[in-house]
Amino acid sequence: MAEALINMKRTHYCGVLRETDIDKKVILMGWVQKKRNLGGLIFVDLRDREGIVQIVFDSEISQEIFDKANGIKGEYVIAVEGIVKMRESVNNNIPTGKIEVFASLLKILSESEIPPIHINDDDNAGENLRLKYRYLDLRKPKMQQKLIFRNKVAKSIRDFFDKEGFVDIETPFLNKPTPEGARDYLVPSRVNPGHFYALPQSPQIFKQLLMVSGMDRYYQITKCFRDEDLRADRQPEFTQIDVEMSFIDMEDILEINEKMLKDVFKKTMDIELKIPFNRMTYDIAMENYGSDKPDLRFGFELKSIDSLAANSSFQVFSSTIESGGTVRGINVKGYESKFTRKDIAKLEEYAKIVGAKGLAWMKFKDGEVSSPIAKFFNESELEELKNIFDASDGDLLLFVADKKNVVLTALGALRVELAKQLDLLDSKNLNFVWITEFPLFEYDEEEDRYVAKHHPFTSPIDSDMELLESAPHLVKAKAYDIVLNGVEIGGGSIRIHQSNLQNRMFKALGLGEEEVNEKFGFLIEAFKYGTPPHGGIAYGLDRMVMLMTGSDSIREVIAFPKTQNATCLMTNAPGFAEEKQLVELSIKLDLGE
Ligand code: AMO
Ligand code: AMP
Repeated sequence: MAEALINMKRTHYCGVLRETDIDKKVILMGWVQKKRNLGGLIFVDLRDREGIVQIVFDSEISQEIFDKANGIKGEYVIAVEGIVKMRESVNNNIPTGKIEVFASLLKILSESEIPPIHINDDDNAGENLRLKYRYLDLRKPKMQQKLIFRNKVAKSIRDFFDKEGFVDIETPFLNKPTPEGARDYLVPSRVNPGHFYALPQSPQIFKQLLMVSGMDRYYQITKCFRDEDLRADRQPEFTQIDVEMSFIDMEDILEINEKMLKDVFKKTMDIELKIPFNRMTYDIAMENYGSDKPDLRFGFELKSIDSLAANSSFQVFSSTIESGGTVRGINVKGYESKFTRKDIAKLEEYAKIVGAKGLAWMKFKDGEVSSPIAKFFNESELEELKNIFDASDGDLLLFVADKKNVVLTALGALRVELAKQLDLLDSKNLNFVWITEFPLFEYDEEEDRYVAKHHPFTSPIDSDMELLESAPHLVKAKAYDIVLNGVEIGGGSIRIHQSNLQNRMFKALGLGEEEVNEKFGFLIEAFKYGTPPHGGIAYGLDRMVMLMTGSDSIREVIAFPKTQNATCLMTNAPGFAEEKQLVELSIKLDLGE
């Protein structure tokens, strides 16, 4: 039977007791990690948020309490009063290992059934089970530490922006659907039948309007919602650190954000980041790394062999060039011996998954070249290849021939896969880089029109203004991403603050006047009444904390995340609505078959 907490008040957390507490009378409360009965003595490991401490129930002190202790089981919640004593057999593996608490009082506050997962960091329960019983999973010390750490990061970010004069302002969740970006989550309006709100994909428009209002410096740590395909670093609802500033240019934003990151890493991890961070243009990132979020902790840069491939007798290469494609490769420098033919065949399978049609290769070993395609290359061509890739004995070259975007994507993904296989990704090695000069537009084949690469409020760079109508594909944006170890942790831009430029932008995006007025009329109008130059950035807090804690997925640093199918295994969200609710919302379902 569960007892009440009458006249008992906790004096300490279990995990904080040390030798300096010896002889103190303490009252502890927590969960039973483990119980061992050694005849006249029962040892219980008692756990709370701060750690574990050993409690001793001695039959010589009290047979009654001893007998009661004998009845407790794993995950029972108990309260114990006792005296801290020096421990005979010291356990150096835990911070409280030098002491133990001799119990003089025991209350069983709550019993527990055998939990479906073992509350232990080493527990290897599958993720589905962990998500179903998330509240138990979150009892694990490692998970608790991650949530506590996340709070520490968020707090130090708040402290920083607060000190720098940024104002934390809430923006609405129930908004008007917008056509750009990812798919919206819609919320039906009961009182406006047939009308829907959209949950914010980001507070973008509101933060810009706050600049029009003269708030000057805004930040907010807030939820954003995007109905997109989910991955390890994507959740349908996630948290942004959202920032906007007035009367600034790109340099000011990068500078204050570098200061912020330096401050946060120092305060939360005691790591000194070197600022300013490196910068790389989007074009260079794509050319050299096949990605706009390059992981720079390792090499394997992409190189083009187009001129050599054009005249090659290897049909796959020459015909690719003829049809306007490209042939590029990477040198897996020094790791030739790590990859057998079988391993390379597996790499080829991987390359195919990420879009390539095949993967040609060459190994350099003992002064010889071994490769199924070596026969197509004469001495001087091989020499040229070696020069391009700085290749020598011990190296493995991998090539992909295809349309440029296919080659870049495949080799970009392959270089990361190789680094994984070769164990080159040390999560303690923090490599930050700003990616700049993104294209303003990208072509959407499905819609057959240009769409904004970042969002339609992003400013072109000054020197490209006149290309907006004549050559939109060449226009670069005042947009920047911050990439940490191959993960885009944040991104932003300088905004358009002139109505006429914004109108040209909408035109370039193929949005008609009516559509613009319908979707963004209020914003265009707002910009007519005195808009300061402004810009900002937003970080994915989940992604930052994932990298800072060396976690594999953002699900590990979110208390209650969704699965890849956007479901919650614990609450079973989403669920069906009741007929009555649908009627109230004027909604009829058509679920097909
Ligand atoms: P962007 O769309 O680049 O920019 O988003 C900013 C950052 O949010 C994180 N992020 C996500 N994290 C988890 N799950 C998701 N589904 C997800 N989507 C994005 C990323 C990303 O870098 N309003 C602009 C910012 C601005 O211009 O100021 C915006 O939302 O880390
Ligand atoms: P094939 O002539 O198709 O037998 O291919 C010979 C070699 O070239 C094989 O190792 C293929 O993996 C490789 N290969 C085929 N297509 C491509 C391609 N598009 N890019 C790179 N390598 C390719």
